[in-house]
Amino acid sequence: MSRLVVVSNRIADPRQTAAGGLAVALAEVLNNTGGLWFGWSGKIVDDAEGDDVHMLQAGPVKLATVDLSHVDHDAFYLGYSNGVLWPVFHYRVDLADFDAGYINGYRRVNQLFARKLLPLLRPDDVIWVHDYHLIPLAAELRALGCTQQIGFFLHIPLPPPLMLAAIPGHDWLMRALFAYDLVGFQSQSDVDHFTKYVETEAHAQPLDGQRWRAFGRTVRAGAFPIGIDVDEFTGLTYASEAVEMYERMKREYSRRKLLVGVDRLDYSKGLPQRMRAFREFLTRHPELRSSATLIQIASPSRENVSAYTDLLRELETLCGSINGNFGELDWMPVRYIHRTVPRARLPGLYRASRVALVTPLRDGMNLVAKEFLAAQDEADPGVLVLSRFAGAAEQLKEALLVNPYDTEGTAAAIQLALQMPLEERRDRHQAMMRTVRQYDVHWWCESFLAALAEAQPEEKGTS
Ligand code: G6P
Repeated sequence: MSRLVVVSNRIADPRQTAAGGLAVALAEVLNNTGGLWFGWSGKIVDDAEGDDVHMLQAGPVKLATVDLSHVDHDAFYLGYSNGVLWPVFHYRVDLADFDAGYINGYRRVNQLFARKLLPLLRPDDVIWVHDYHLIPLAAELRALGCTQQIGFFLHIPLPPPLMLAAIPGHDWLMRALFAYDLVGFQSQSDVDHFTKYVETEAHAQPLDGQRWRAFGRTVRAGAFPIGIDVDEFTGLTYASEAVEMYERMKREYSRRKLLVGVDRLDYSKGLPQRMRAFREFLTRHPELRSSATLIQIASPSRENVSAYTDLLRELETLCGSINGNFGELDWMPVRYIHRTVPRARLPGLYRASRVALVTPLRDGMNLVAKEFLAAQDEADPGVLVLSRFAGAAEQLKEALLVNPYDTEGTAAAIQLALQMPLEERRDRHQAMMRTVRQYDVHWWCESFLAALAEAQPEEKGTS
């Protein structure tokens, strides 16, 4: 069996209970197959310092990391990845900062990754590159003579062609995808956008088996919705830290129903819209008011990007005014926590909650939705209120699907969720858990790698 080489901007030690969808999923894959994980060390160093590869053996997995210079980190991570690609791929062209210098830093770091990774590769390795930070990596590797099978998975949405076309350099970026043998997306609508883009903008020729030919190469594209490891998450749910959390929450909120939101503090998550919907619910239902509390965890993220600082202020103002206007001496409607809560405690919080609010404006998948479902007691499960714009909505059709821009509609869904009879809660939960179990992280990994193995290893010249 070929060795698996995973490449992603962030890596995590697979032996630890990591946080974050991507890290958790990849740790899982690598633990099972053994292999090499290559990425950024998380360190930013003075520009003059060396660019050595740091090697660490983590159980069966080898971790190889490189540091980034301040200049590269600014242009590659803050600039092009999170100031251009992240907003536009989440349909927020208005928030993009199209500084002309960013793309050079983006290209430079992808070249650095390719240069440092190449000597570590074996001839029959299978390489799996992850996410928007590293779109041109295969093209850079191919330019250095790499002929191994390379797959790419985009964890975030792919917007429609006309939106992509707003990115200066979009043609270069999308052409770089043809250096891969397989390109995977979270949902069918992302695949549709890819198809439309390559047909209209790149004049690619459609072949059978979801393949497209352009720039002298053939690429296969498909939807591989990412999942969770249900057994691992159930294990966490009944481990001492989560059980303690669950019991504490049940005690503290014995007379109230809990609503929960857990997100990175990101404008794609629709946090102000969610707060406005909750305020609308409180306004419309004075009789239900003090029977519900919303716990919103918003973990700090990308604080050096200006759109994130503005969001923080908006959210703090909203939470403050909701509590000021509706709070009582013995009850506050919103508990807002701007910190990261250890992953080991989250299942306890999910299990104690009657409703999860997962209402992003756009999201590639959203694993909080799936983890919330997995943490529920089957006999008395909570209700998932889910944005129709999360990739997860293509799979979790029995959730209460909402349009997060529709304040009144979301408020109505909150009320419905809080008052949903037990039988309906059970039916919906059972149906969704079937999907969560069937399309788990093992399915995701196996089906992507099987499709990559099948993708024709044709001529591998650079395009
Ligand atoms: C999303 C992205 C990941 C990223 C994570 C955390 O889930 O798809 O690639 O690692 O957010 O963001 P950060 O900027 O802290 O890596």
